[in-house]
Amino acid sequence: MSAPPVDPTPWSRRFEQGLHPTIARFNASIGFDIELIEYDLDGSIAHARMLARCGILSEAEATTLSDGLERIRGEWQAGTFRPGIEQEDVHFAVERRLIELVGEVGKKLHTARSRNDQVGTDLRLWLRDRIDRLRVQLLDFQRVLLDLAHVHVETLIPGYTHLQRAQPVSLAHYLLAYVEMSERDWQRLGDVRGRVNICPLGSGALAGTVLPIDRHYTAELLGFDGVSENSLDAVSDRDYAVEFLGAASLILVHLSRMAEEMILWASQEFRFIGLTDSCATGSSLMPQKKNPDVPELVRGKTGRVFGHLMGMLSVLKGLPLAYNKDLQEDKEGLFDTVRTVEQCLEAMTILLHEGIVFRPERLAEAVGEDFSNATDAADYLVKKGVPFREAYGVIGAVVKHCLQAGVLLIDLPIEGWQQFHPGFEPDLYAMIQPAMVVEARNSYGGTGFTQVRAALARSEQRWHAHRI
Ligand code: ARG
Repeated sequence: MSAPPVDPTPWSRRFEQGLHPTIARFNASIGFDIELIEYDLDGSIAHARMLARCGILSEAEATTLSDGLERIRGEWQAGTFRPGIEQEDVHFAVERRLIELVGEVGKKLHTARSRNDQVGTDLRLWLRDRIDRLRVQLLDFQRVLLDLAHVHVETLIPGYTHLQRAQPVSLAHYLLAYVEMSERDWQRLGDVRGRVNICPLGSGALAGTVLPIDRHYTAELLGFDGVSENSLDAVSDRDYAVEFLGAASLILVHLSRMAEEMILWASQEFRFIGLTDSCATGSSLMPQKKNPDVPELVRGKTGRVFGHLMGMLSVLKGLPLAYNKDLQEDKEGLFDTVRTVEQCLEAMTILLHEGIVFRPERLAEAVGEDFSNATDAADYLVKKGVPFREAYGVIGAVVKHCLQAGVLLIDLPIEGWQQFHPGFEPDLYAMIQPAMVVEARNSYGGTGFTQVRAALARSEQRWHAHRI
């Protein structure tokens, strides 16, 4: 079982033996935490400047350190710095390279700092950036929905409950429902950002430091809103990651629900939308097929993000204070989640923009081919003073009769109606036309065209305010 040890670690003078190579690989996070490198550099530069300001380093030393760190950034961006597994993690990799580049003074960077507060800082900086990007993407997604909604205020579409035809609605009203969902997603990410943007740096390994540091200064340099209050909590807190994963899961719940509808609507059974060639694929076997791969993948990828949320919760449960190596497991799921949400939002935005076309003739046919105007026929009687429950019963009997006779409500002659209730008069027919059925739902937040136009105006205003 003995194997040649890997590179000397910072603790090589304390230990008798080097790490077994398999264990070194098992222990290392460099394979994925290299993702944090630029944030690690930012954090270290701010830390060095703070150390100088507090008189712990000289100004000249701090300048040498930050110049060296910027050189590492250059090497990273040029692709010439690619640390391997022997570096264990991004923090060691950067520190070692710095010492190589600037010599002895490089060994001063880690003064008054531990990798425990360092990794927390890096992850928060990284996530803050990703949250900001995702919020822009959510607004892009809203933009496409809003543009479509403007075109489709008076396009009618069957509305469902239990996936049974219920009442027709404005297609814009349907699209604005998703604007509301993504608006909450946007807000939720903003809420999470507030708790992400707190600086743990200066908490040391777990208990703070004996050196006279200025945590608020470092936090300010890094654009944090404040500093953490308790060093034990600061190095072991990943609540913000859980919250983010929860917010990300909800984004995907929303996208996945819409994806499911796109898949249904593109089917032969619905035919509400057609798929354009740029967002669909064919079958390798069946020449007639056109498949909705994009929404299917969005629906499918949702599962892995739920998994990452559960994974993070499980890592945290039962961890004694403060830092434990288990916390290294916080990263891959988080990284994959951000990547997945970014991809799904992008794909759905493109899909809505150019991947689907609504089929107005088919939608018009769909809203007229069923009994989804039955509530309106009941409301017609209600307006004439008939108690709703009684009117409901009357229309139930009419529907049964029409089903047996094979006609729609609109086709039943007035005498037929009057057999069920004397209150029916010919003005009934106008009330149960699909367009009127929709138009009449004029309660605040309802699908009536006036309401939808007003809602669209409010959404536009909100969107522009967010964009600033
Ligand atoms: N790679 C580690 C992580 O991702 C950095 C912190 C290590 N701290 C320690 N005490 N071993 O969590």
